Amino acid sequence: MTIIDGKQIAAQLKAEITAEVAAMRANGQRAPHLATILVGHNGASETYVAGKIKTCGECGFDTTHIQLENDCDEQTLLHHIHRLNDDPRIDGILVQLPLPEHIAEQKVIEAIDPRKDVDGFHPANIGRASLGLPAFVAATPAGILELLRRYHIDTDGKHCVVIGRSNIVGRPIATLLSRKTDSGNATVTLCHSHTRNIKEICRTADILIAALGQPHFVTADMVKEGAVVIDVGITRTPDPTKKSGYALKGDVDFEHVAPKCAFITPVPGGVGPMTIASLMRNTLWAAQHRYY
Ligand code: GUN
Repeated sequence: MTIIDGKQIAAQLKAEITAEVAAMRANGQRAPHLATILVGHNGASETYVAGKIKTCGECGFDTTHIQLENDCDEQTLLHHIHRLNDDPRIDGILVQLPLPEHIAEQKVIEAIDPRKDVDGFHPANIGRASLGLPAFVAATPAGILELLRRYHIDTDGKHCVVIGRSNIVGRPIATLLSRKTDSGNATVTLCHSHTRNIKEICRTADILIAALGQPHFVTADMVKEGAVVIDVGITRTPDPTKKSGYALKGDVDFEHVAPKCAFITPVPGGVGPMTIASLMRNTLWAAQHRYY
């Protein structure tokens, strides 16, 4: 059994990006520039955005952060997005989700210029990616594909079972794995809350991806011997023994599942670190006009 080291692969990816940024600068080009927008003061969101900005700095990117108050109206947020869309010095725009309830999330996502949509949430990017056209792919599915690639885990002809149909992870990873491309060509089953016989279906998986956000949902009896298990869950649970006051729990009962696996990602240190690294790569590619 091999534990997939997302921290190490993410560090490798970041080092590659940093080297490319240095080469761009040496060529007289400016550094990639990511703009982040955070509405309100949700603790988890603040932590995530701070992590993204810090990593941008480590990769040599420029950043602009816009902090808006919780009662900020939709028009104000849209105005900021339009301004960033029109600013040629900005390569990527990231509006941290979730947004307060009075703001229509989909409208905000669709306001971002697809060429600057480094989150890969805009329908143009989701549609293009599903057609196999060049497009920004959301950070978590892109991170999962990169882990599979770098560990030489072949997906061709494999049965991949994805649990969870979120727009951010489950649905895009299911679509990407079924594409007629490298890191694709899998037979994919997308399970969700209305799926019958979920345990039986999971037991047939060569590659099992748990992305439902329910701690320790995947138990040892749901996993085939020799399977590859990718755990996307990162639920915060109270833990007074931790300095932060919480522990991160995955969707997989790692302790009991790991001995059955060929490969497994831990939580933390698996998929998580790859998401920021993938966002950095999307921002670099936006600056290089790789897709558009
Ligand atoms: N909230 C949780 N994950 C994400 C993400 O990948 N991007 C943005 N913008 N918001 C998020």
